[in-house]
Amino acid sequence: MRVRSLPIALLVLAACGGEAHDESAETADTTTEPATGAEATEAPETNSGVRTRDDSEIPRAPKPWDELTQEERGAFMADSVLPYMQELFAEYDPDEFANVNCATCHGPNMHERDFEMPSPSLPALHASGTPEQHQMVEEHPRMVRFMFNHVVPAMRTMLREEPFDAETGEGFSCYFCHPRAE
Ligand code: HEC
Ligand code: HEC
Repeated sequence: MRVRSLPIALLVLAACGGEAHDESAETADTTTEPATGAEATEAPETNSGVRTRDDSEIPRAPKPWDELTQEERGAFMADSVLPYMQELFAEYDPDEFANVNCATCHGPNMHERDFEMPSPSLPALHASGTPEQHQMVEEHPRMVRFMFNHVVPAMRTMLREEPFDAETGEGFSCYFCHPRAE
């Protein structure tokens, strides 16, 4: 089972993010992004400035992720995930993300950890509804929108995971990459 539940307010955003992604064909050439739910209205900045990709532009793992060997996973990461994410993150901020590499997601000790995710090097995310989570959204409105609208749908598609389902608590979420804050 690959179940990583997502806090409630993030669920709202995740659901809306899914819809936004389906509409991406119409908005592919613009930087306009549909609203992503409750939290977005708290954030004055509504646009992460990154072009919305069409589904067909996103690479997909050659087989369901669970059926790939560790070597095949690493090869897909190197051949497809990394180049895509390098371009995406550079579009978000070319200075901050000039050198996106495996360690950007997996952390500096990725070899010792055998690339296991989530990565303890990424900031831990608090459950929605908590003051800490609200603060995170307020402090990083553009980054949160970028994560919701671009990083999450792309990574989910690449890994051939299902969108997050609020009812079952299954599917791809922020917690595939970020640790859960205590
Ligand atoms: C944009 C973030 C990102 C980048 C960049 C990235 N990875 Fe990954 N990687 C992931 C995610 C997410 C998973 C899947 C986690 C899961 O299965 O829950 C993963 C899984 C893996 C796995 C399988 C780990 C396991 O426990 O099954 C390997 C091996 C791997 N990555 C290697 C690499 C290598 C090598 C690079 C650089 C060429 C790289 N990754 C770049 C996000 C990334
Ligand atoms: C594919 C892996 C991946 C997924 C999924 C993901 N993130 Fe991220 N996140 C990253 C990476 C990589 C960074 C940049 C780390 C760095 O600056 O080196 C980051 C950075 C952030 C930051 C900036 C933190 C800071 O202090 O600057 C926030 C906030 C954040 N993510 C929130 C989220 C949220 C919320 C979600 C789910 C909607 C999410 N992320 C999903 C990989 C991911």
